[in-house]
Amino acid sequence: MPLSGRRDSVIEYLTNESDTPATDTALREAVGAVRLRRVFTDRRQESLEPSEAVIREILLRVNKHTPEDEFNCGACGYETCREKARAVHQGLAEAEMCLPYLVGQLEKMQADLQTSLSKLAQSYSELSHAHDELAGAHRAIEAAQQQLIQSEKLAAMGQLAASVAHEINNPMTGILTYTRLMKSMLSEICAQPGEPPQEKCADVDRSPVLNDKFPKFLGLMEREISRCSSTVRHLLDFAKQSEPRLQLIDIVGSLENALALLEHQMVLQDIKVEKLYEKVPGIMGDFTQLRQVFVNLILNASQAMTTGGRLILESRPLADRQQVEIRISDTGHGIAPENLGKLFVPFFTTKKKGTGLGLSVAYGIISRHGGSIEVASAVGKGSTFTLRFPAHGG
Ligand SMILES: Nc1ncnc2c1ncn2[C@@H]1O[C@H](COP(=O)(O)OP(=O)(O)OP(=O)(O)O)[C@@H](O)[C@H]1O
Ligand code: SF4
Ligand SMILES: [Mg+2]
Repeated sequence: MPLSGRRDSVIEYLTNESDTPATDTALREAVGAVRLRRVFTDRRQESLEPSEAVIREILLRVNKHTPEDEFNCGACGYETCREKARAVHQGLAEAEMCLPYLVGQLEKMQADLQTSLSKLAQSYSELSHAHDELAGAHRAIEAAQQQLIQSEKLAAMGQLAASVAHEINNPMTGILTYTRLMKSMLSEICAQPGEPPQEKCADVDRSPVLNDKFPKFLGLMEREISRCSSTVRHLLDFAKQSEPRLQLIDIVGSLENALALLEHQMVLQDIKVEKLYEKVPGIMGDFTQLRQVFVNLILNASQAMTTGGRLILESRPLADRQQVEIRISDTGHGIAPENLGKLFVPFFTTKKKGTGLGLSVAYGIISRHGGSIEVASAVGKGSTFTLRFPAHGG
């Protein structure tokens, strides 16, 4: 029996039962003296019976536009669609509780889902196409980058070769000039091998040439030759670029070792060394290469303090002991702001006898240790070189 039928049966039963005299008497006895009076106030009430227009509007909500759309299938618990519309109006049912309507909605949702799925598939294929294109572009960029690095390397090598040629050429020209001069002086005062002894040779006074000029020229030649050999030695250091042999080292030990090599020099130049060491973790490094870095930096500092001063060496852990910082400061003449950007360029020097390779060698070694170097300087006050290295296990 449909729900509405069952409800009608219950109403009918209750109506019949309450009308029997037995019930009536029992009620009177049970209630006794209870006052059953009730006061009602008038209030406007809508008729529960909906108009045709309301029924049509409710039917329309579930897509029942014509009488043919009213299937009267009873799946909602009401025998007819109109009966269910009436129940909706009375607040006893929901308009959407209609099986054919819900099935239609489901079909619509399924169709929408299908459309979204095919759009998604299309986007996916476009995305994977774009990904392939991106991977291709990435490979092309990498290849171009490699070419650029290669050409930059070549350019740097060309620049280096030109600088070396220049650095070696200058002293060589000097040496050649003095050699020619000495040769012509010799020919003035002596016979050339195989020539008959010249008459003027006999009475010429050779002492000014041999005692004054020659020693002076030879001294100048020696200076130029040692300049050449210093350039070549530094250049070899620079070009070697040997990979550091890494092992767990105490970096402050390496700094101390470098200082020990130059301590005598510090005393001679009246330079006071101050050590402000905080305990730092070990680093993976090449002890000898790092010592060379520190020697270069301490030498530069001492060369900047020609009239004495203070050399301050510091160490401290950084970034939660993940890094080690070393600072080398001096109270020397400082670096002109326009030179700050050129310090690490090979052959940049402001010194008469400098090769300008000390800092570029240091830079190469520090980079190969995964570290960094920075400089801060004030003219007339001094300079500070700050080095940072990754700590072992950091
Ligand atoms: N502590 C410093 N104080 C002032 N100037 C400095 C300092 N360190 C470096 N410089 C400047 O940087 C330049 C380059 O230094 P670098 O060590 O590369 O070469 P150099 O000292 O001139 O020659 P080399 O080290 O080959 O003998 C120096 O000529 C100097 O002008
Ligand atoms: S389920 Fe829908 S079609 Fe079936 S009787 Fe109820 S309202 Fe009408
Ligand atoms: Mg130097």
